[in-house]
Amino acid sequence: MAKREQWFDLSGKVAVVTGGASGLGYAIARALVLHGAKVLIGSRTTDKVEAAVKQLRRETETDAADSSSPVVAGVGLDVTNEASVAKAMQRAMDHFGRLDVLVNSAGVMLRKPTFELEPADFNRIYDTHVTGSLRCAQAAGHLMREQHAGCIINLASISSFVDLIEVAAYAAAKNAVLGLTRSLANEWAKHGIRTNAIAPGFIPTEINRSMIEKTDRGRRILEHTPMARFGEGKEIAGAAVFLASPAASFINGHTLVVDGGYMASGIGDSVAWWTGSGSPQVQQQQMQQ
Ligand code: NAI
Repeated sequence: MAKREQWFDLSGKVAVVTGGASGLGYAIARALVLHGAKVLIGSRTTDKVEAAVKQLRRETETDAADSSSPVVAGVGLDVTNEASVAKAMQRAMDHFGRLDVLVNSAGVMLRKPTFELEPADFNRIYDTHVTGSLRCAQAAGHLMREQHAGCIINLASISSFVDLIEVAAYAAAKNAVLGLTRSLANEWAKHGIRTNAIAPGFIPTEINRSMIEKTDRGRRILEHTPMARFGEGKEIAGAAVFLASPAASFINGHTLVVDGGYMASGIGDSVAWWTGSGSPQVQQQQMQQ
């Protein structure tokens, strides 16, 4: 019998996940651990990081047998601060001895009418999403280059492609994330480093919950989403496991959209059940009129 391919096995890999104490970063860190990776999560608030590390260990049931060599660790990390980024990458090396995967999931959001948007607001959002990802990629990239192997995953967004109203700074930053992804993919492939992005659809987390849960905006988003629901963190984590795994060894410079079909949907009847037109019976009735 042919040997089974270990396409999604991340055993022996070490990952750093920025913004890993909550939301998508946490879900991604959890999935990477469950597929065999050792993971360092970094976020600004140390208490939050410590709590997330404990929860991650509990949920993945790792480290129970041998607490002297934990597979999950945490670090206080501010991606807008170069020294903090350098310290975090060094922490990964000290703990785990190598660095194979960087997931740039640290993020902030600002909703403001664009006439009122201050350049300082704009720069703050940009500094976190774009310059922050660059800082982390450079610090990780130096280590990956020495190993001649590595994988960088940036978090893009639906607003990398379409406007979502009053989030201009975020949209501009998420567009720039695509450019950064392509540039790194192009320049660093020769060092054995693949760089890709994930563009999640709408997943309720701290960054957007107040904007999309039980709001008009949220209802309209669902009406535009063929699967008529928000996504879950684990559905984005699956894409990250794939991109980090041997199964994606020839994927470089790609942005994987994970959105329940939002980007595929144009003008037409909504498939959301509460609009009525979502049910096949109602659709048939409408066609007969
Ligand atoms: P979240 O708010 O749960 O997680 C973001 C994390 O980044 C937080 O833990 C926050 O403390 C941390 N963070 C913020 N600034 C930081 C800094 N300077 N240094 C280190 N950590 C910092 O939000 P979520 O949803 O997990 O977002 C993760 C990424 O996914 C972000 O880049 C976001 O823009 C992106 N995204 C999220 C979507 C969603 O629907 N939740 C959709 C599309 C993209």
